[in-house]
Amino acid sequence: MTEQQPPTAKNYDPSTFRDKPVSFVRRGGRMTPSQERAWEGLRHLYLVDVPHGRAATSVAEGATGDPAEIFGREAPLVVEVGSGQGHAILHAAQERPDTNFLAIEVFRAGLARTMIRAESAAVDNLRLAEANAPEVLERFLPEGSVDELWVYFPDPWAKARHQKRRLVNEEFAGIAARALRPGGLIRLATDWEDYAEQMREVLDAAPDFERAFAGDWAERYDGRVLTAFEKKGSDKGRAIRDLTYRRR
Ligand SMILES: C[S@@+](CC[C@H](N)C(=O)[O-])C[C@H]1O[C@@H](n2cnc3c(N)ncnc32)[C@H](O)[C@@H]1O
Repeated sequence: MTEQQPPTAKNYDPSTFRDKPVSFVRRGGRMTPSQERAWEGLRHLYLVDVPHGRAATSVAEGATGDPAEIFGREAPLVVEVGSGQGHAILHAAQERPDTNFLAIEVFRAGLARTMIRAESAAVDNLRLAEANAPEVLERFLPEGSVDELWVYFPDPWAKARHQKRRLVNEEFAGIAARALRPGGLIRLATDWEDYAEQMREVLDAAPDFERAFAGDWAERYDGRVLTAFEKKGSDKGRAIRDLTYRRR
């Protein structure tokens, strides 16, 4: 069980009990009755038991998880950060039954929708974690345990005064490098040009990563399905930028 949240004012900010900004403002939000039912009825199948600290989406000090135990088998591990409604990871889990997939998301209604789809697709190589992704990568997962890390359409935090909330920054590069095995890949996509440039600057400068693409941007990754966020960006005429880096 998660700890009770402190006051649930509409503008409740989950960074209240953290000493640094997080890349999301509110978790939860209202769930529909069918999402509520899915959450109650399916979470024992899909949800990883991540012990939380004082902030409800935090990872408790010293909490660790063993992927072989979580999935009941040893297999390559793909982790998606901010999986939203789970379209990309569910598709991949169906396509690649020999790989384990972990979706990390703080938006409970999105996790519930992912569970509903996973159940109807009878997928058994997908697990979900309701937690702040950097903390999962930094301490919950063992060092070098991730083969691929996906960051697709992270919240852009477009206003200058909000940019400190962007997920992909120098600190995140270090956290991602810790979680990835040598030779593992981080794949990113965004429709915000200046965020794409920030991602590239950060990862170009990160000593543990090297480019896995030639030219200015990576090719669109075949394994990435079109999500509502990508479609919205394209419909507004924004270029979609992909980046891929290899853990040295
Ligand atoms: C713009 S949406 C994109 C969702 C999905 N990747 C897609 O392409 O459809 C960004 C998602 O990241 C989630 N998110 C933001 N910061 C997060 C964090 N620190 N840990 C886990 N999830 C996070 C948000 O809740 C939101 O669902």
